[in-house]
Amino acid sequence: MIDPKSKYIPFQPIGKSDHRWADKVITHPPVWCSVDLRDGNQSLIDPMNVEEKLELFHTLVDIGVKEIEVGFPSASEVEYEFLRALIDGHHIPDDVTIQMLVQARPHLIRKTFEAMDGAKNVILHFYNSTSTLQRKVVFHTDMQGVIDIAVDAAHLIRELSQPILDSGTNLRFEYSPESFMGTEMDNAVEICQCVLEELGATPERKVILNLPSTVENCMPNQFADEIEYFIDKLPSRDCAIISMHPHNDRGEGVATAEMGLLAGAERMEATLFGNGERTGNVDMVTLAMNMYTQGVDPCLDFSDINQIRNVYERVTKMKVGPRQPYVGELVFTAFSGSHQDAINKGVQYMQAHKSNFWEVPYLPIDPADVGRQYEPIIRINSQSGKGGAAFIMQHNFGFDLPKAMHPEFGHIVQHETDVVGTELKPERIYELFRDAYVDISAPYCLLRHSFHESTGDEQGQSRVCFSGTLRHKDTVFEVRGEGNGPIDAFFNAIHGQKMDRFTFVDYKEHAIQSGSDSMAVAYIQLRDGKGKNVFGVGIDHNINLAPLRGIISAINRSVLEK
Ligand code: KIV
Ligand code: ZN
Repeated sequence: MIDPKSKYIPFQPIGKSDHRWADKVITHPPVWCSVDLRDGNQSLIDPMNVEEKLELFHTLVDIGVKEIEVGFPSASEVEYEFLRALIDGHHIPDDVTIQMLVQARPHLIRKTFEAMDGAKNVILHFYNSTSTLQRKVVFHTDMQGVIDIAVDAAHLIRELSQPILDSGTNLRFEYSPESFMGTEMDNAVEICQCVLEELGATPERKVILNLPSTVENCMPNQFADEIEYFIDKLPSRDCAIISMHPHNDRGEGVATAEMGLLAGAERMEATLFGNGERTGNVDMVTLAMNMYTQGVDPCLDFSDINQIRNVYERVTKMKVGPRQPYVGELVFTAFSGSHQDAINKGVQYMQAHKSNFWEVPYLPIDPADVGRQYEPIIRINSQSGKGGAAFIMQHNFGFDLPKAMHPEFGHIVQHETDVVGTELKPERIYELFRDAYVDISAPYCLLRHSFHESTGDEQGQSRVCFSGTLRHKDTVFEVRGEGNGPIDAFFNAIHGQKMDRFTFVDYKEHAIQSGSDSMAVAYIQLRDGKGKNVFGVGIDHNINLAPLRGIISAINRSVLEK
C-alpha cells in the first residue's frame, strides 16, 4: 500500500478544549426517527415494493417508533404511491408522524406538498449539501450560494405550508445541512440559524435541525465536539430540536451517536440493524439495547427480536450477521469452556441470591429480554470445558449433576466432539448422557423388587426391607436385606454377591419433569475394590427405586469398563 500521507487528508478537529460531554452519561432516550423506508430502502439492491414497505412500516409502529421517514415522494412513482397507500389506507396511527424527504429544490418541494394531502402529522424534511468538499467539487459555489439555496427553500416551504396548516395537518419542519460533519462549524451554525429565522421557528414551534454524518470521516469524540460547539453557538437554540443522522463508514456509527447524545443531541435518525447507504446508518437496535443494559428504558420494544429480524430479512433481502449485537445467531453462544463455567456460576449466583439484577459474566444482557432462548446459550465443541456439558444438562433438560460428576461427563462429551469434529447440539449431549449412565441394563438387571417399611423401633427409627430378583447374564438370583433406608437395605441385600466389592460414597436425588409426569433422578457415586470412583444414574417414577437403578448402573459401568 502506498504511503497514506501522500493520499489522504486527515480530518481537522475543531480544537475545542473543553469537552463537557465527556463527563456525562445517557439518562433518557432520544426521540427516535426511523429512516428504514428511505435511507434504508434507497440503498437496497432490490428496493422494497409497496406491500413490503407497508409490512416494515407496521413493524416499526409495533416497535414503538413515533417518527418514521417514509420516503422521498418527489423522487419516484413508487415512493409517491406508497405514501398515498399509507394515507388513503389509514395505516398511520394518530400518534405517529410521517416524515418526507425532499431536496431544497422548488419543483420537488411543490410535489412533496401534493403528496402529503390528508395526513394528520407530517415532518417535511429538506436538505442541501454544505460541506467544504461538496462546495468545492460538486456545487462550485461559496457558502453564501449554499445558504441562499437553503433559505429560498425555507421561504417556499413556509409559503406552501399555510393551506396545509389551515386544513388541520400538524406540519413540522426539519432541515439537514447534508454532510454537516465536514462543514466548517461556524458555517453550519450560520446556515441553520438563517433557516430557523426563515421558517419562523419559535420555542413553541421548534424546527428539527438534523446534523448528519453523511459520510463518517472523523472519530466519535471529534464529532461530539462539533455537536457541543454547534449547540453552544446557535443563537436560536431554544427554537430547535437537535437531531443526528449518523452513518457508519468508519464502523463507529453507534459510538458517534452515543457521544453525540452526550453532547446534547435530542433526536436520533437510525435504521433497524444498521441498514443504509454503503456501510449503513446507525443501528437503532444496538443503540436502544445499549441503553437498556444500562438501566435506561429506550421506549422501543425489541422483546421479540427474531420476529423483527425475520421481517427485516424478508422485505429487504439483507442478512443480519451472526455476530450482530443483540440479534445475531451467535451472540448468546459461548464456545470457550471458561466462559461457559462463568456463565453457569453467574446463573447459579442469581438463583442462590434470588437476585433480580442480571449479573452473569460474558452475557451483557439476559437473552430472554429480546425473546431469545436460554437453551442455545452454550454449544459444546472441542474447546468447551467440563462445566459446559453439565450446564446444558441442567438448563435444557433439568438434570442437576453433582459437581463430582462434571469432569467425567465433560470428558465423555469432549471425546465425542473430537470424534465428530463439530459442535454438539443439546439433544446429542442428552443422548450421550443416557447412553453412558442411564440405559445400561447389563450385565446386572433388576427384574423384580419389593420394599416393606416398618416404622418405630425402640429409637423411633423406621426399617426398610428390600427383596428383589436380579439377573446377571444368564443367572437369575434372589436377594433380601434390611436397612435404615432403601439404599442401605439394597446394599445389605447384595452382601455376599459379586457386586459386594463396591462401597457407597455419595448420592443425590431430585425430581425432573418429563412431559406432564414427574420422575426422580438419582446420581450415585460408588468406589470399587481398587478405590476407583464410579458414577451411575437411575431414573424412575418411584423415588425409592431411582437410587437402586443408579447403583446398578454404576456397577454395570464399572464391570463393562474392565
Ligand atoms: O446521510 C444524509 O446526510 C442524509 C440526508 C438526506 C439527511 O441521508
Ligand atoms: Zn443518510
